Amino acid sequence: MDLITPDKTHDEARQGEALMLDATMGKNNGRKLYIESYGCAMNFSDSEIVASILQEQGFETTKDYNNADVVFINTCSIRENAEQRVRNRLKEFTVAKVKNPGMVVGVLGCMAERLKSKFLEEEKLVDVVVGPDAYRDLPNLIDKVDGGQKAVNVLLSREETYADINPVRLNSNGINAFVSIMRGCDNMCSFCVVPFTRGRERSRDPHSIVKECTDLFNAGYREVTLLGQNVDSYKWAPQTTLPEGEGSEEQADKEVLPLGEDLGGVNFANLLEMVALINPDLRVRFSTSHPKDITDEVLETIAKYENICNYIHLPVQSGNSRVLELMNRTYDREWYMNRVDAIRRIIPGCAISTDIITGFCTETEEEHQDTLSMIDYVGYDYAYMFMYSERPGTLAAKRYADDIPEPVKNRRLKEVVEKQRHYSYVRLQEQIGKVQRVLIEGFSKKSDQDYCGRNDQNAMVVFPVGENYKPGQYVNVLVDRTTTATLLGSVVD
Ligand code: 5AD
Ligand code: SF4
Repeated sequence: MDLITPDKTHDEARQGEALMLDATMGKNNGRKLYIESYGCAMNFSDSEIVASILQEQGFETTKDYNNADVVFINTCSIRENAEQRVRNRLKEFTVAKVKNPGMVVGVLGCMAERLKSKFLEEEKLVDVVVGPDAYRDLPNLIDKVDGGQKAVNVLLSREETYADINPVRLNSNGINAFVSIMRGCDNMCSFCVVPFTRGRERSRDPHSIVKECTDLFNAGYREVTLLGQNVDSYKWAPQTTLPEGEGSEEQADKEVLPLGEDLGGVNFANLLEMVALINPDLRVRFSTSHPKDITDEVLETIAKYENICNYIHLPVQSGNSRVLELMNRTYDREWYMNRVDAIRRIIPGCAISTDIITGFCTETEEEHQDTLSMIDYVGYDYAYMFMYSERPGTLAAKRYADDIPEPVKNRRLKEVVEKQRHYSYVRLQEQIGKVQRVLIEGFSKKSDQDYCGRNDQNAMVVFPVGENYKPGQYVNVLVDRTTTATLLGSVVD
C-alpha cells in the first residue's frame, strides 16, 4: 500500500508524481473514468479538477459506471447520513466490480480524508483513498492499483489551490459554472468536520480566477458561481520575488520585489469587482458568506454592479447567542441582525438564504424559539435546515454531550421547516406582477414546451419556449403566478 504520510512533504510527493506521470503517459489512452459527486458545490467543482487531471493522462469520462475502468465517488462527511448514503452507493458498485475485476474503485473527498486507510479495511471494494488536496497524485495512485496494490494519499496542503488546472466541465449545460476561489476553512465551528477534512484556508491567485472566468465567458458561459467555505475571508497578498538570478538567502533578506503591476492585496470585494468587470453579460454569484466577515465593502460592490447577483447565502445556524457561542460562530444574534439590516439598506430587494441546525447540544426550548424568531426577522427566501449530527473529532463532539433526544431535534426541525416554508412562499408571491431578468438555462424539468432559468435573486422562473430566444440568453419575464417553489410567467421583450 502506498501511504503518503504527513512526514513526506508535498514537494517530495510531487517529484515522485512527475516521474510516474512520464511512465504512465499514454498507457491510459481511452480508459474510461466515471465520477459521482456528493455534498457541497465545492465537491462537484473538485470532481471537474479530477476529470481534468485524468483527461491529461488519456482518460475519457463516461456516464455509465458499468463501462468504466475507474469509478470514483467524491464524498461528503458533513452529517452522518451523508456518509451512510456513500456507503450504500458503494455497495451498488459491487456487482460491476465482480463483472470487471480490473475496475479501480476510488473514494475521494471528505470521507476519504476523515477515514484515511481505515476505509480500505471497512469497505473491501475500495482500492484507492484520496483526500481533497492530493488529486494531482491520482495518476500515480491508479498506477499503483493497476500494479495490484491498494493506495492512499490523504496529505493535506497549505498551498494547493489547483489554480493552474483547467477544469473539465462535467454534466454542464454550457451556461453556469462553478469556480473555486479558495480551499479549506480556518473557522472551527464546533459542529463542523470541514476544517479537518479540507484543511487550512488558502486563497487562489486572483489572476487565475479571472482567467478561468474569462475563458468560460468566451466559451459561451454566462454565469459563474465563485466558491469557498467562507468567501469573505478571501485574501490574496501581493506576491514577492527576487530579480532573476539573485536567489541567495542573503539577498532575499535585503531585496524583495513585488511581482506584476498590481501591487496591492486583493480582498473578496476586489475579486468580485474584477470578475464583474470581465463582461456585463457574465453573471456573478458566490457562496458561502460568513456573517462574521461579510463587510459593507462587499455589499457596496454587489450594489454597484448590475451583473453581481442580489443573492446572499448567509448561514445563521442558530438565532440564539448562547448557542452561537457554543457553536464557536464568533458572532451573536445582534451582530447577525445588524448584517441583515446592512444588506437590506445597501442592496434593497436582495434575497437572503441560510443554513439552520436544530437540536445542537444543550439547546433549550427558549433558545429554539430564538431561531424561529430569527426566521421571522429575516424572512429568508430559502433555507437549508438540518438536525444536529455529531461528527467524530469535532470540538462539539469532544466538549459537549449530544443531549437533545432525536424526536425533539426532529420536532424542532419540523417547526423551523414549517415557518420557513411560509416565508419562501411569501417571497415568491412578492414577485408577482414584476418583470424579472432571467438567464435561460434550458427546458424546464416538466416540459420541453417551457424554458427555465433563474432571476437575479436565484429564484427559478418557468415560461413558454419562444422562437426569439434560447438557452444562454437573457430575457425579461413578467411573473403572473407561482407554485410553492417556482415563479411562472411569460417573456415580455
Ligand atoms: N450537523 C448538522 N448540520 C451540520 N452542518 C455542518 N455540520 C453539521 C452537523 N454536524 C450544516 C451547517 C452548514 C451546512 C453546510 O451544513 O448548517 O452551514
Ligand atoms: Fe464548517 Fe464553519 Fe467552516 Fe462553514 S465556516 S465550513 S460551518 S467550520
